Amino acid sequence: MSVARKTPRGSRWVAPIAQGGATGFLTRIDPAIARMAGRAGETRMFRGDVGEVLPLFSPRKPESVLLLGLGKAAKLDLDVLRRASGVLARRMLRDGGAVDLPLDTPSLRSLSDRHGWAAVVEAIVTGWLIGSYSFTPYKSDGSGKKRPGTLTILTGPLASPGRSRGGRAIDEVEVRRAVLRAEAMANAVNYARDLSNMPANDLYPQKLAEHARSVAAAGGLRLTVLGRRELARERMGALLGVSQGSDRPPCLIVLEYRPRAWKPRSKGTVVLVGKAVTFDSGGLSIKPANRMEEMKYDMSGGAAVLGAMQVISVLGAKRRVVGIIPATENVISGSAMRPGDIIRSAAGKTIEVINTDAEGRLILADALHYAKRYEPEYVLDFATLTGACLVALGSQVSGMVTNDKALGKAVFEAGERCGERVWELPLYDEFVEATRSQVADIKNSAGRNAGAITAAAFLSHFVTGLRWCHLDIAGTAWAEKDSGLFTVGATGVGVRLAVEVVLGA
Ligand code: BES
Ligand code: MN
Ligand code: ZN
Repeated sequence: MSVARKTPRGSRWVAPIAQGGATGFLTRIDPAIARMAGRAGETRMFRGDVGEVLPLFSPRKPESVLLLGLGKAAKLDLDVLRRASGVLARRMLRDGGAVDLPLDTPSLRSLSDRHGWAAVVEAIVTGWLIGSYSFTPYKSDGSGKKRPGTLTILTGPLASPGRSRGGRAIDEVEVRRAVLRAEAMANAVNYARDLSNMPANDLYPQKLAEHARSVAAAGGLRLTVLGRRELARERMGALLGVSQGSDRPPCLIVLEYRPRAWKPRSKGTVVLVGKAVTFDSGGLSIKPANRMEEMKYDMSGGAAVLGAMQVISVLGAKRRVVGIIPATENVISGSAMRPGDIIRSAAGKTIEVINTDAEGRLILADALHYAKRYEPEYVLDFATLTGACLVALGSQVSGMVTNDKALGKAVFEAGERCGERVWELPLYDEFVEATRSQVADIKNSAGRNAGAITAAAFLSHFVTGLRWCHLDIAGTAWAEKDSGLFTVGATGVGVRLAVEVVLGA
């Protein structure tokens, strides 16, 4: 990843082309290529779909051109560009190689007129770096090793020199700054993906705490890790209850970013909470064996919060940001929590455990209660909370439940901007009523219907007096096939959204 003004001889250009878009700018490289590109739609060799690539070689010149489809010109936006860049990066992934992408092209100019060059460059670079990801540390023969390609962004004019083309000038300093921001973001997304892809025998609560320690040390964050004894002192009976069947001790990881001028009376703290069940077997309400192995990614909310804290430590923020990650396994032994058990949460509410597989809401209950001591302006939580959310919204959209309309709107809009889309589910009183228990204050499962909402309704008992927005990432945290930005496996969802909400437009 680098930025240059001009490209050397023999370069491989990437020419982004929207369907029906101009190709005349390719004349500068080779008039024959410009004519071929202009006709490509007719021959069906290149329709210009998002991420479609057609390599063209000049018979006379050392340059070659990769046409990169951007889909319909009318639908072109930053998310399309991000995805196209990601698909191109994945295509380049096996053998490496280098390509040069000139910004000064008609389709990118049209995007920059609407969003500015910084946003265009951020979309290209985040797409490229997220698309270049692969998870290979466990291939002992090195066969999985993939070499990412190299992308050089060209800021110089592609048209004949001196001819003004209108629109905003490309400021190289602004472009370089955007590249750095995008790199910080994509690195954290890929880090979160590594954590989620890692098997549960290597990534357990204390290991996650060690990761948090490295992130904190590198970024100057404060770190507190509560172990079993401290959790007991905080009366976190819900987190402790979930963990009690495991030989691996649970912990509550707390990371704190403070801006330079922060004082104890400063307002505007944001708290990010992330569910980190390093393996979810379901407990005694055990899950079916089929695809249980995927439940190593049940710590993706925690990974997202850790990734977001890393980005914030690199880019800085004007407010204090606190990340809280309750971490535990949900497994079975003679000491495991049983269905019917009644546990007492840190907030003092008693919980009837109907289903030990509804463990995420239990550990979040104690973590959300812990958030209150920071007197936050608002709290976001990220959790692979319910299979029901996956059923309702699929794997492209996270479920959102909030008790604050304005916060919900801000999160929704942040999602549209950064490409991590969310859709709101309603928190009606009836859903909260459904969480009442016969014998305890509340129960941890209200049945299958509206499962994603009743899970959030359960959480709502622990955020009274807080502005709160819950994000169910059960569907979005894992890609079931290679598509768009992602390969099969963890997506690191939540990192970009959390940062986009905290740092704003
Ligand atoms: N971690 C799961 C939710 C999940 C399911 C995430 C599939 C990703 C993919 C969660 O702990 C869980 O098991 N939820 C139960 C709740 C139910 C028992 C009320 C569920 O969704 O079935
Ligand atoms: Mn579960
Ligand atoms: Zn779970």
